[in-house]
This record gives sequence, structure tokens and C-alpha cells, in this order.
Amino acid sequence: MKRRYLAVMGLLVIMAMVLAACGGGGAATEAPAAPAEPAAQEAAPTEAPAAEAAPTEAPAAEEAPAEAAAPSGEVVTLTWVGPGPGNEFEFRKQQAAEWNAANPDIQLNLIEGPVSATDRIGLYLQAFQAQSTDIDIMQIDVIWPGDLADNLIDFNEYGGAEAVAGDFPAIVQNNTVDGRLVGLPWFTDGGLLYYRTDLLEKYGFDGPPATWTELEEMAQTIQDGERAEGNQDFWGYVWQGAPYEGLTCDALEWVYSSGGGTIVSPEKVITINNDAASAALDQAYSWIGKISPPGVTGFMEEDSRAVWHAGNAAFMRNWPYAYGLSQNDDSAVAGKFDATALPGAEAGMSAATLGGWQVGVSKYSTNPEAAAKVALWLASEEQQKAQALSPNSLIPTKMALYEDPDIAAEREFMPKLLPVFTSAVARPSTATAPQYNEVSNIFFSNVYDVLTGKQNGADAVANIELDLEDLLGFEVGAP
Ligand code: GLC
Repeated sequence: MKRRYLAVMGLLVIMAMVLAACGGGGAATEAPAAPAEPAAQEAAPTEAPAAEAAPTEAPAAEEAPAEAAAPSGEVVTLTWVGPGPGNEFEFRKQQAAEWNAANPDIQLNLIEGPVSATDRIGLYLQAFQAQSTDIDIMQIDVIWPGDLADNLIDFNEYGGAEAVAGDFPAIVQNNTVDGRLVGLPWFTDGGLLYYRTDLLEKYGFDGPPATWTELEEMAQTIQDGERAEGNQDFWGYVWQGAPYEGLTCDALEWVYSSGGGTIVSPEKVITINNDAASAALDQAYSWIGKISPPGVTGFMEEDSRAVWHAGNAAFMRNWPYAYGLSQNDDSAVAGKFDATALPGAEAGMSAATLGGWQVGVSKYSTNPEAAAKVALWLASEEQQKAQALSPNSLIPTKMALYEDPDIAAEREFMPKLLPVFTSAVARPSTATAPQYNEVSNIFFSNVYDVLTGKQNGADAVANIELDLEDLLGFEVGAP
């Protein structure tokens, strides 16, 4: 109860910050921020994004054309709730500057959003409930189209169908709710196992682990060896154990790769209460303090990456964005790592949780056409290529980019790991919409209680089952 109260208070604070950042009124005439440096290497978006999208309430055609692009001199300012502070935000800032320089009539006001996906959806839900016009463009997690559809515009009204013709069909389908395309695929994600190639070699292992038990053994051996050599900060395995959406992703991988199902099946059966699932949770608990730091129950993605990046972990579970960042000059592991599929209970049972983000436009935006135009540009092949080559190495949803020579040369891991991404296991967001967010909260809170020693795996899966029955009214059954 207390935790929930604190979470709500936190969201109210975030919301207040967003509203303050939006200047309260979302005025359409604010002077555009001076564009930053001229856009980096990528070509400026001169070919107008998505030719189909007509400009908002087209100003009277008779008006004398101004020298630049703003015919009536009126500037539409759109608020885009971007990523949380960090590397991706820096890249988004460059994109916003590039757009603003080329589109004097539509200016983007990019603001930082919450880092945690759980806090982010809390913010969106509050804004939607208030029918707030303060947010125009928003980043939509792959699990949210079903929960948020009623509050998002249908891109089919703005040329969306043509725009997504080259995207992975499964993602387009995921983003289509009752025939409405509520999110443009932007980048996809799948959980990966990062491992230190130098340390595997040093300790005589010929390749990454295929099973969780092998991972435990290898992590322990390497950790013991590195500590004996004097690095007391070294850990075998880092991952995401804080109580938020990221823990749902990690725990789904443990459960599904043990044969324990997907919490709720696509056929709307609650399947979580089974021995494979409870054993998987108990196994994860056993890592804490042994091969994983006690603090892992407070870790989100960037916390795990910090340990890894400093050279203090043998293995890390993380998303593809960590690949590019781990190659940076400031990384202690540059040139000493690779990434592959996560282990399974048995070899070949590996599972990656499907992640990824879409661009959405709020239905309450006062400029939906202009916002749709920006969204189409952000999700375009050209911009997806730029973000794949950016330090965050974000995985394209445009199939053609897997044949792109620059991506093949600079982001070799993308085509190589494509099968991991395309066979990733989905969280039960379609089956449980519009209540997925509550389902996930029930799941990760109970898993968190296992990780912190408050209940065992068997009690957790029984409690999750009971709470999901109450919430959803679905049947229970085997995975
Ligand atoms: C990544 C994934 C997203 C997931 C989140 C959890 O951003 O793309 O799908 O919900 O991590 O932290």
C-alpha cells in the first residue's frame, strides 16, 4: 500500500514537472528554440516527411508566400516527451534540432520523460485522464497499444498504412487495435546476454552458457578468479531486479525459458501457477549476493550497464542499446565482449522478451496533423538508420535496413542477432488489454518479493494467479 502511495505521489511530481516544462499552456506561438549545431552526418530531412500528411488547418492559399516555410508566420510548437536523461536523450536532441532547422513552421519542444517505463505509463495515464493538451508526441512501449489505444490518434488517417508497409508485420499488428494504427514502429528490442569474451577465454570456457546452470557456474568461476586477483567489485551476473516493468521482462525470460509459459496465454488463460515458473523465480533469488550484487534488486537497465561498462561483470542481461554504448571509447569492455541469446533451463530453451518503442500522438493534441507529420519522420527509414548507427544502437523495425551496407558494416550484431529479435516472446499485453499495466504490476511486485526474500517462488505464482483471476476473470490452466 505504502509503495503504491509513494508511486502515485512520484507521478504527480513528474506530471507537475512536465506541465512546468510545457509552459502550462502549450502555446502555439512560442519562438522556436534556436536550432543547435547543423545536423550531424545524416542528410537533413529536406524531402518533406510523409508527403501524404497535409499541414494543419492549411493557412489560406492566397496569402503571400513567405521566404521561408512558415506561410502565415504562425508557428506550431509541439511537445514531445522524450527518453529519460542519458545517451538516447542526447540523440533525440539532435533529431529535434535537425527537424526544427528544416521546419520553421512546426517546432519541437523535446522534454525528458521518466526513465522507468512504469513511471512513464503512469504519467501518460494521468495526462490522458485530464485530457491534457500538453503532450503531443509520445514514445509508446510495445506493451501499451492495447492499454492506451483510446487516447491515441489513428495513423491510418495520416498516411500511416503506407508508412508501415516495410516494417515487421508482427509489430504493425501489435500496434493495430480494432483496426486503428495507434503507434508507428520505431525500434524493436529483445533481451540479450552480454558476455566478456576475454574472461571466458582466460578461464577456459569455449563459448557463452546455453543453460542457466552453466551461466551460474561460469559466473562463479570468473567472479572468484577476478576477486582473487584483487577486484573486489567484480560480479558474475548483472540484470534488472528493481520493481518496475523491466523486472517483468527479466522474469518472463526466466519463466518462459524454463517452460513456465507467459503468465497469461494468448488464449486468455492464466498459466503462471506452475512448478517450472516457481522454480525459475527461486533460482533467480539464489543468485543474489552470490553471483549478483545485493543491490541488483534496485537495478534498472542503466544500473546494470554501469557495472558492466566499468568492467566489473562477467555477464549482463540487457537490451541492444547497450551494445553500441559498450563499444564507446569510455567503456572498459570495448573490444572485449559479445552478445548472444540468453540461456534456458535446457539448451535451446532460450527466450528473449520482446521490447521496443513506437511513436504515438495523443488524441488530445491540438495539432494532431503536425504531430503525425513529425511522428512519420521520426519513424522513417532514414531516421531509423540514424538511430541504429547512433551510440545507442537501436534495432530497426524496417526490414530493408537489415540489408543496409552501413548497418552491416557498423552494426554487425543486428543482422547476426535478427533471429533472436524476431522470435522474441511477447508479454501478455494483447490478451490482457487494457489491463496489461496492472497485470505487470501484480507480476513484478510478487517477483520482487521473491527476490527480496519475502516469499518463495511457489507462494508468488499462487498469489499472482489469485490476483490475476480477480483482475481479469480469466480461467486458469497449464502453460
Ligand atoms: C526497454 C524495452 C521495453 C521495456 C523496457 C523495460 O525499453 O524496449 O519494451 O518495457 O525496456 O524497462
